Amino acid sequence: MKSLPLAFFYLSILFRLVLSLSPTYLSCQLQKPTGESALAGCPEGTLYVSSTDPSANFTGSSGGHQFSVSSAILIPRGSLMCNSPGTGKAVILIGEGQYFEMVNVTRGAPLVLLGQLDSATASTRAGNAPQRNLVYIWNNLHAGNGLNDEETPTLTVGPSDGHPFGNVDFKAYNIDFENRAANYSIAPALVTSITLANTSFYGCAFASWQDTWYAGYGSNTYVVDSTIYGQTDCKFFPSIPWFQSVTLANRGCGGGITAWRGEPGTTNGVYIANSNITRSPDIDPTIVTTGRCFLGRPWNEYAVAVFLKNHMDDSIHPSGFTSWASGDAVPTTTFYAEFDSHGPGANMSSRVEQDHILSSEESQTHRLEEVFQERPRWIDSRYQY
Ligand SMILES: *[C@@H]1O[C@H](CO)[C@@H](O)[C@H](O)[C@H]1NC(C)=O
Ligand SMILES: *[C@@H]1O[C@H](CO)[C@@H](O)[C@H](O)[C@H]1NC(C)=O
Ligand SMILES: *[C@@H]1O[C@H](CO)[C@@H](O)[C@H](O)[C@H]1NC(C)=O
Ligand SMILES: *[C@@H]1O[C@H](CO)[C@@H](O)[C@H](O)[C@H]1NC(C)=O
Ligand SMILES: *[C@@H]1O[C@H](CO)[C@@H](O)[C@H](O)[C@H]1NC(C)=O
Ligand SMILES: *[C@@H]1O[C@H](CO)[C@@H](O)[C@H](O)[C@H]1NC(C)=O
Repeated sequence: MKSLPLAFFYLSILFRLVLSLSPTYLSCQLQKPTGESALAGCPEGTLYVSSTDPSANFTGSSGGHQFSVSSAILIPRGSLMCNSPGTGKAVILIGEGQYFEMVNVTRGAPLVLLGQLDSATASTRAGNAPQRNLVYIWNNLHAGNGLNDEETPTLTVGPSDGHPFGNVDFKAYNIDFENRAANYSIAPALVTSITLANTSFYGCAFASWQDTWYAGYGSNTYVVDSTIYGQTDCKFFPSIPWFQSVTLANRGCGGGITAWRGEPGTTNGVYIANSNITRSPDIDPTIVTTGRCFLGRPWNEYAVAVFLKNHMDDSIHPSGFTSWASGDAVPTTTFYAEFDSHGPGANMSSRVEQDHILSSEESQTHRLEEVFQERPRWIDSRYQY
């Protein structure tokens, strides 16, 4: 009976729960000792995708598009192929490796993507979680040559044709999503595109240059303990992306870190809280400018961007925000706000007058519960970081 080593294995997992990432999924995510099933500790029915392990439900080769992750997402289970909220929840474990594919999630029922983790490093506390990730999903398309922005993302979450809403509860843990079109700003090259869906990301990384993150119409997103690499206009439409305890790594400046097109009278906007906004540690000084980055520029006069308790290094421009076109003033109908910014980029004395410097009391109206008008059930509040 091999229950003794297995008992030790699970004991070590239990012990690690103190510093765990997702208490719900960590035991599934940890790589297993030789001879144990990769799916040990996973919820029943979990599918396993691997680029190397022939015992996986879906395997792919490292060359060419194999659509390994996409194939697993498309597997019919219950009523998951149609947009049927609350049924047919699917969990997919993705093994260590590189996956060269574009993932397009159109299923409506809950979906969880889990990146495998090394038990030796999963819970180390150095930096935020993406530094321990073993799973990379990437593509290399950029806008131009007949392609629109929307055709370039590595991860798309949205409704299938004719459905009013896409995924009601999409979650990804410990996965790096990258657009490797170039190692410099070549053109819009999206990593994520999320429209009409509720999505959340835990310990992930998102890497590109221009337009890394597209928050499309009607999406609610929560990103925690993650790193977003980009330059120029992460762009957003009426929707709510909330970035909590992330690193926003500026690979260069241009446009704004946020570029928002808003709607009057809503809480739609981009919210960045308890995060580190910094010059990217991976910038190559020979190919990027070393200018100062603006926290935001308004795509329309109702732009909303709220920065709560962030650390800002000296890559942030002293003015904070700028207009869409140079020479214009920032419209007074925008809502740009900061509360308790700190660090070298957080000297408020030269901020544009349209920046609302919030008091502690005022900041309370921009808490997560206020912004989403509830404590969203689609957020994994047990995730620890
Ligand atoms: C996935 O692989 C596991 C382990 O081999 C197996 O038990 C399970 O039936 C497979 N699932 C599907 C849907 O094929
Ligand atoms: C994703 O799939 C939907 C539904 O088939 C389609 O409308 C959309 O164009 C696809 N998006 C991408 C980026 O392939
Ligand atoms: C980007 O840089 C990496 C690391 O040097 C290299 O492996 C990759 O081929 C480069 N990609 C492009 C598109 O230049
Ligand atoms: C912010 O990120 C930079 C670059 O990774 C790092 O050097 C710095 O220590 C971080 N600062 C804080 C306050 O976390
Ligand atoms: C903030 O900026 C003002 C104006 O540029 C400058 O006079 C002041 O010394 C700065 N404060 C700090 C703490 O750097
Ligand atoms: C999506 O999230 C919002 C905000 O939490 C919530 O009000 C809405 O009911 C969710 N939609 C679905 C279809 O679950």
